Amino acid sequence: MAILNMRLVPDPILRKQAKKIGKILPALKRFTADMVETMHSHNGVGLAANQVGSLQKVAVIQIPDMEEPLILVNPEVTRREGEREVVEGCLSLPGYRGMVKRSVKVRVRALGLDGKVIRINAEELLAQALEHETDHLNGVLFIDHLVSPDSLWKISDEPDEDDDDEGGDTDIPAMTAAGPVQTGETTGPQDSAQSPA
Ligand code: NI
Repeated sequence: MAILNMRLVPDPILRKQAKKIGKILPALKRFTADMVETMHSHNGVGLAANQVGSLQKVAVIQIPDMEEPLILVNPEVTRREGEREVVEGCLSLPGYRGMVKRSVKVRVRALGLDGKVIRINAEELLAQALEHETDHLNGVLFIDHLVSPDSLWKISDEPDEDDDDEGGDTDIPAMTAAGPVQTGETTGPQDSAQSPA
C-alpha cells in the first residue's frame, strides 16, 4: 500500500466531476486500499478519489466507531432530510474550518467492492461524511456550503500540505458539535480510529 499525494485547493481536479465506474477491477481494490491508508495517515474520516488525483467515482469513509472503512463505489445521495449547521474541515484545505449547512439525515446508494448494492441511512457524523465525500465527487467543496462568507476560519498558521503535526489537515469535522476544533491533533496515524481529527 502507499500513501498518496494529497491535492489541495485550488487544484482544478477538486472541481471536476468524477466518472462513474463501470467494472470493478483489482486495480480499484488496490487504489482504495491506498486511499484508506492515506486517509488514516492524515487522521481524516473520509477521502474522495479526486483528492488524490483520480477521477474515478469512489470514496472511502471511516468514522471513529467503524471497525472497517466503508468503500463506496459510485455513491449517490438519494435523499436528504432536514438542515443543520456543523463545523467541518477538509484534507484538501488544511488549516481551515468552516461552519457549513448539512442535512440532518441522508440516504446513500453505492456499490461495494464486491459489486453489491449498499444502502445507507445515516445521521450525525456519518451523514456529514457521506455528504462531504459525495460532494467531492461532484466537484463541490465544503466551502461552497458555508453558512456565511465569514464562517471560514484558520486554525493554523502553517498551511503546509503533508505534515501531521499541525491541526489543520483533517478531512471533515472534528466533531459534529458546534465550535471550532482546536489543535492538539498530534496523534499518530494509527490511533486515529478513535480520533477523527
Ligand atoms: Ni474533503
